[in-house]
Amino acid sequence: MQDLNPLAIELNEQLRASSPAVFSLFSELGKRIYLPKGILSQTAEAGIKAHRFNATRAIASEDGDMMHLAVSRELVPTLSLEGIYGYAPVLGQPELRETWKTHLLKENPSLAEATLSLPIVTSGMTHGFSLLAELFVDSGDTLILPDKIWGNYRLIFQTKAGANLQTYPFFDATSGFNTHGFRERLTNTAGEKLLILLNFPHNPTGYAINRTEAQRIVDAIVARADAGCRILVMIDDAYAGLWYDASVMHESLFGLLVGCHPNVLPVKIDGATKEEYAWGLRVAFISFGLGAVAMQPLEQKFSGLIRANTSGASQVSQTLILEAMKAPDYVEEKQRNYEILKARSLKVEKVASDPKYAKLWEVYPSHAGYFTCLNLKSGNAEKVRQCLLEDHGIGTISLGETELRVAYSCLEESDIGTVFRTIAAVVEALYGMG
Ligand SMILES: Cc1ncc(COP(=O)(O)O)c(C=O)c1O
Repeated sequence: MQDLNPLAIELNEQLRASSPAVFSLFSELGKRIYLPKGILSQTAEAGIKAHRFNATRAIASEDGDMMHLAVSRELVPTLSLEGIYGYAPVLGQPELRETWKTHLLKENPSLAEATLSLPIVTSGMTHGFSLLAELFVDSGDTLILPDKIWGNYRLIFQTKAGANLQTYPFFDATSGFNTHGFRERLTNTAGEKLLILLNFPHNPTGYAINRTEAQRIVDAIVARADAGCRILVMIDDAYAGLWYDASVMHESLFGLLVGCHPNVLPVKIDGATKEEYAWGLRVAFISFGLGAVAMQPLEQKFSGLIRANTSGASQVSQTLILEAMKAPDYVEEKQRNYEILKARSLKVEKVASDPKYAKLWEVYPSHAGYFTCLNLKSGNAEKVRQCLLEDHGIGTISLGETELRVAYSCLEESDIGTVFRTIAAVVEALYGMG
């Protein structure tokens, strides 16, 4: 085992004093990581004091501005050269971080009374989860997840970080979120450190929880924390804001978890990815319900981790998100997209749940996000998927033996009837249930 660097020891001591739960949840790497006082701090110092010549930055300049290629600059003519080509700060552009925090406070009324950190910018949500895995997960640590998940969690937490995944059935007998199963899984999982991952609106089903379910989830977590367990609760809010049904909660569970128990550390992972219709820009955020005293050393830990892998998220992507969020038409354009997705969701609900298909599949409840998911009553989802693709040119995702996920987010409303009619025809042809 390596000796800890004195800077890491100092950060650990600060966190042990200000936020013992954070410190006690750290992985071995989490304890070891720190940001060296090297090029970054010398560059920052020169940025303030080098009034004659600044020869610190590892960039090239010309006539007092950034050297660049006109052929790419012409493609984004209105942005500043720094906003396109400059290195972004390791934790992200300060104004973007402030703007995202304002966005979170506006969208999450439960955070009104809470302390919220400045969000840390990551290169997409996947990078955010990878950072959390590095900081908090040691091989053998237990991560509690439902049985229906976005598959990348497995690669990040199980394959890469070596976590021991413990699952519970996502739905209960009434097709609601299985709060009882969740509580039981928590109660029956031994150990003094647990990791939990929750995702609503949900991939792959499109399910969103209501207030009662949310409170039951919080109560179950608090009960386990009361029994002496330290718990990291990761809230995947990839599809935040895309709620189409008045019966479900229109804010993140994160707001209800902040401050719920001293042993519980909630962390919100969300992004421009889906919320801002900017999938490939790779801009996402990690936020904690922690104040400055805990965040200062924690940010140093994140800075060390980010510096050691991506070194920072794309500058031009961050600039595009920030400028879009400040634009006069921003709210109106987002509302327009939301209305289109909502109309598709309502159409899917009507079409897929048509009684004439009841013998073929069960439709999981879907109130939000991008997806609906069919549970085939007989047959094999992968066979159906292949037939849809090969014979009809329709792409879907098969999950497990019987589940077929349809991303209606990329279907025109007028095509939804055809898609489900074709799926029904394929199931009937393959399994003879006509
Ligand atoms: C539930 C969920 N979380 C996270 C992500 C990934 O986000 P990103 O593309 O920002 O890595 C996705 C993408 O499909 C998702 O469905």
